[in-house]
Amino acid sequence: MKPPLSQRSGSITPFWAMEVLERARAIERQGARVIHLEVGEPDFPAPPEAVEACRQALARGETGYTDSRGILELREAIADEHARRSGRPVGAERVLVANGTSPALFLALAALLDAGDEVILATPHYAAYPNIVRAAGGVPVPVLTRAERGHRLDPEAVARAVTPRTRAVLLNSPSNPTGAVQPREVVAKLAELGPALISDEIYAGLVYGGAEACSALSLSDGAFVLDGFSKRFAMTGFRVGYVIAPPEALRALQSLAQNLFISASPFSQRAALAALEHGAPAAEEMRRALESRRAQLLDGLRGLGFELPAAPEGAFYLLADARRFDVDSRRLAFRLLEEGHVAVAPGIDFGEAGEGHLRFSYTASPRDIDEALTRLRKLL
Ligand SMILES: Cc1ncc(COP(=O)(O)O)c(C=O)c1O
Repeated sequence: MKPPLSQRSGSITPFWAMEVLERARAIERQGARVIHLEVGEPDFPAPPEAVEACRQALARGETGYTDSRGILELREAIADEHARRSGRPVGAERVLVANGTSPALFLALAALLDAGDEVILATPHYAAYPNIVRAAGGVPVPVLTRAERGHRLDPEAVARAVTPRTRAVLLNSPSNPTGAVQPREVVAKLAELGPALISDEIYAGLVYGGAEACSALSLSDGAFVLDGFSKRFAMTGFRVGYVIAPPEALRALQSLAQNLFISASPFSQRAALAALEHGAPAAEEMRRALESRRAQLLDGLRGLGFELPAAPEGAFYLLADARRFDVDSRRLAFRLLEEGHVAVAPGIDFGEAGEGHLRFSYTASPRDIDEALTRLRKLL
C-alpha cells in the first residue's frame, strides 16, 4: 500500500547532481574512469590536527550527547573567530552548533517562519535552499541575479519582492553555484531592509584575486549567520556547522535543536575545535590550490565556447552558460557523463535561472581538470 505522503514532501525536488554522482559510480563499477566535477566537496583531506583530535576524543570515550548548543570551548572559539572576522564583539552565547550548516539553516528557518511565510533568495541558488524553506513551512521567493552583472544581487529588486509575509532574506556570499561575492554595500542594504537577514557564509575564506567577502555580522547584530567546517576545512563528513544569532533568538533555536537533533557529535566537535585552532595553514594551502585551478578551468571552459562573462571570485564553482551546446542542462550533463565520463551538475538544480547552464566544481586535481577539458573538447 502506498503510504499517504504529505504534499510538503512531494514539493521537495530531487538533487540532480547527486543523481549524476550515483550514475557516475555505476559507470565506475563497470571499470571506466570518471572525472568528478559535480559534487560540492573539496578533494583535500581534513586538517591532520582535526583528525587527531577526533581520534583522541574517541579514545577518551567522548561518545555521548553534548550541550545542545555545542561544547562550550567550540562555541567560544567560533565566537572569537567571528569577532576577529567581523571586527565587532561576538559572544559565545550567540552561537549554536549543529550537525552541519544545513541543519543550522533549518533551525534558523524553523525559528523564524510560520506556515506560508516568505523567504527571499537570490537565484541561481544552492539547490537545497527552496527545499529547506518548504520543509520549514515557508515559501521561497526567488530574485534573479544575472551573469552579465557578476550575479550581483540588486537590493532594489529584493525590496520590491518584500510583502507583508516576508520573514527573511537568505543570502549566500560567496555563492554556490555562481561563485559570486556580494559587495559590502549590498549586504549593508539587505541588513537594513526589515526582514531578518540569514547569511550563509559557508564559503567565507574561499575567495580569490584579492576579493573580500563581507560578513553580515560586521554590519548588524540582528543577522543570522550560518557557517561550518565542511568547505573551508574540507570536513564534510564530520557534520559540524553553526548559526550565530541575535541573543533573543537563542532560546528558540536551542529548544528546536534539543528536540530535533539533541546535539552534534562530540568527537566531530573536538575535530572542529582543532581545525579552528590549528587548521589555518592547511585551509590556506587549499585556497591557493583552488585559486589556480579556478584560472585553469575558467580558461579551459571559455576556450571550449562556454559563456562565463565574469570570473567568479569565491567558493569553488563555475556556472557556465552551455546553451550553445544544449538548452536542456540535464540532457547535456548526462550526455557528458555517458559519452565522455565527465560528471558535472546540471544547472536546473539551481533553479529555473540555472537552466541551460552546467556547474563545474574545481575540486579535482589539475591533471584531472586537464583530462576533463580534453574529453569535453572531443565531445563538444
Ligand atoms: C551554500 C551551502 N550551504 C550549506 C551547505 C551544506 O553544508 P554542510 O555540509 O555544513 O551541511 C552547502 C553544501 O554544499 C552549500 O553549498
